[in-house]
Amino acid sequence: MFRLVPFLALALAALTAQAQGAPKKRAKPQTELTWWGHSAWVVKTPAGTVIAIDPWLQNPKAPKDAAWPEKVDAILVTHGHSDHVGNTVELAKKTGATVVSSFELTNLLGTEKSNGGNIGGAIKVSDDVTVHLVEAVHSSGFGQAPDIKYGGPAMGFIIQIANGPTLYHAGDTGFFKSMELIAQVYRPTAALLPIGGHFTMDPRGAALAAKMLKAPTVIPMHYGTFPVLTGTPAQLRSELKKEGARAQVLEPKPGETLKL
Ligand code: NI
Ligand code: MN
Repeated sequence: MFRLVPFLALALAALTAQAQGAPKKRAKPQTELTWWGHSAWVVKTPAGTVIAIDPWLQNPKAPKDAAWPEKVDAILVTHGHSDHVGNTVELAKKTGATVVSSFELTNLLGTEKSNGGNIGGAIKVSDDVTVHLVEAVHSSGFGQAPDIKYGGPAMGFIIQIANGPTLYHAGDTGFFKSMELIAQVYRPTAALLPIGGHFTMDPRGAALAAKMLKAPTVIPMHYGTFPVLTGTPAQLRSELKKEGARAQVLEPKPGETLKL
């Protein structure tokens, strides 16, 4: 009988809380995605893990007065070209972040902490984030001619975030048919796709990719940085429409933070 008392007290407290209109559901935590222009992103997860992707933080479109992130847990680098390696080495030195890329490129970059893998592999970068290394149709030389070194394969990343979105950062790539497998296996909720053309997919290619990927959200990147990268988000929208693809296109300005 006496044992029932604490139970009844708890039940009563719970009922009272509900009667007082205590919130039944907490607002869903969000993942913050800041575009630094070109293919550079800084992602902050609901648990506070910070990941920089292709951090060329001094690209021509980068926000001029923005402070570099103070805390970075991992830096993901899709391939060896300088517009993607960017400020990786300085940022890793400043923050102690682990660099995740191809085995060859992490060795060439030589940062204190790194985890080099290859396509098909998965790397857990924190308790709440796993990164899958996936195919990209591109090259990955590192350094300047005539001393270009072999940087391993170019790749894309599937970034699985606990209580958050599954992001696909395609790196530099043309479209390829096994994007259908990426959709099937990882079900990305947001696809970050290059649209500039010349070195990567153009808006038409990116629309075909988006259709295969079935991601509800598409975020264009790798356009407008140089005159040769002529694709625009408006062209992407029109190509998606022609394809009958329903993905919403988010178009942040450099320095802007999206919440997903
Ligand atoms: Ni490239
Ligand atoms: Mn590039």
